[in-house]
Amino acid sequence: MYRKFLRLTKSLTVSFEKLVNFVTTQEHNPLYFHGALPLYTFWFLIFSGILLWMYYIPTLDRAWSSVNYISALPTPGDPINLAAGIPYGAVVRGIHRWGAAAMMIVTLLHMFRVYFTDRHRAWRWLPWVTGVGLLVFVLFVGLSGYLLVWDARAYYIVVATQHLFDGVPVIGAALSSFLVGGEGITDYTLTRFLFFHVGGAVAIFFLVWMHFIRLKEPVVTPSRATNFLLLGFILLAAGTLPAINITHELLAKYGHDPRIAAQAAYIASDAPAQIGTLVETIRYDAWYMFPYWLIQNVGTTWTWLILGGSTLLLCVAPFYPKDRRANIAEVVEAKCTGCTFCSLDCPFEAITMVDRAPGSKFKQIAVVQAARCSECGICVGACPFQAIELPELHSKTLEADLLALVKKGA
Ligand code: HEM
Ligand code: SF4
Ligand code: SF4
Repeated sequence: MYRKFLRLTKSLTVSFEKLVNFVTTQEHNPLYFHGALPLYTFWFLIFSGILLWMYYIPTLDRAWSSVNYISALPTPGDPINLAAGIPYGAVVRGIHRWGAAAMMIVTLLHMFRVYFTDRHRAWRWLPWVTGVGLLVFVLFVGLSGYLLVWDARAYYIVVATQHLFDGVPVIGAALSSFLVGGEGITDYTLTRFLFFHVGGAVAIFFLVWMHFIRLKEPVVTPSRATNFLLLGFILLAAGTLPAINITHELLAKYGHDPRIAAQAAYIASDAPAQIGTLVETIRYDAWYMFPYWLIQNVGTTWTWLILGGSTLLLCVAPFYPKDRRANIAEVVEAKCTGCTFCSLDCPFEAITMVDRAPGSKFKQIAVVQAARCSECGICVGACPFQAIELPELHSKTLEADLLALVKKGA
């Protein structure tokens, strides 16, 4: 049943991608760069993040105003604009914000693509499980970014997270004070949030390295057209809706302007945080704030169950249904000359060259690591000596089939 479901999702995904080919051509179909897109988007976040970091001051009384200095309300000719110290600062911040949304979208797209095409099981369990780690870290880095603004929403998130931690038996209180760096919220809290944000981004790089260990030549750059498409989307979004800080007073003054209203609805930050004054509800961002939507709507216990349960399900997904492979490549010892062609061509680094006993006719022999073989058959084509076979795709059978076809054609 589950196998049938995976076969169906695979054929639907492939058909959909073929449909997109009509618009984009095969060469520039963004869906074919599903793995490269998150990495490419991540570079935007790194570069725009470094620019923002140059002006950010992680203390309780300066964090909000330092962010405001970067991105005050951009109303041409208005004295409020004087608060903005950096030309196009709001746009840079917008690139970071929209880039973060794009990051989550393309990471999910990538995840669904590998899942729907059944490229997540067997030896691919490692890229999949490290991928789940990447998803968690992308969420963590995004959320810690929202805290740095230190507005009313950031304070709400801190209090709600402490509430969530308090529900954890035995270590709940320790987790809660680890989050804020002590018994209460102090300047150290914001230094800690900055560490979470930057340290989390560094951890993403480390996880990406682990993600690639089993992939020989992963596609890490999208086609030029796909690059421009994503770049265009982020720049257009950041140019038309730059990220701003907005207070109730500013909203009352400028709220009639549809652009400001749109910014206030999604991309703007709230008024500065006031410790002890909690807003009743926050503006939820669909990509990063859903855990807080859950806390508010279903309570902390269900939030733990939903978040923990879905992470667990994702982690075990590659191990079910069990791998039923019978077609792993086999080396015919007598024919192998140790030429290394198969080992160079195998896309999954499943073939290693091993020294033969001294005095043997040939120095090396190819050895297939069953756990890594994806049964693709590339090595069969690469071997000039017919010394490697797939049991269910024997070269003799292939040859006979091809001859039969040629004869039929003639
Ligand atoms: C920061 C986020 C991520 C980045 C930068 C990233 C990057 C990549 C890249 C570049 C590839 C190679 C694609 C190719 O060669 O066509 C890849 C493969 C893969 N990724 Fe990710 N990935 C991320 C998140 C995830 C997530 C969230 C999952 C699933 C939970 C995942 C699961 C996989 C799997 C199973 C493969 C192997 C697919 C295959 O062999 O066709 N990745 N990833
Ligand atoms: S069939 Fe051959 S080329 Fe393909 S993964 Fe297995 S060993 Fe590598
Ligand atoms: S290509 Fe064929 S002959 Fe060469 S190492 Fe591989 S199995 Fe042996």
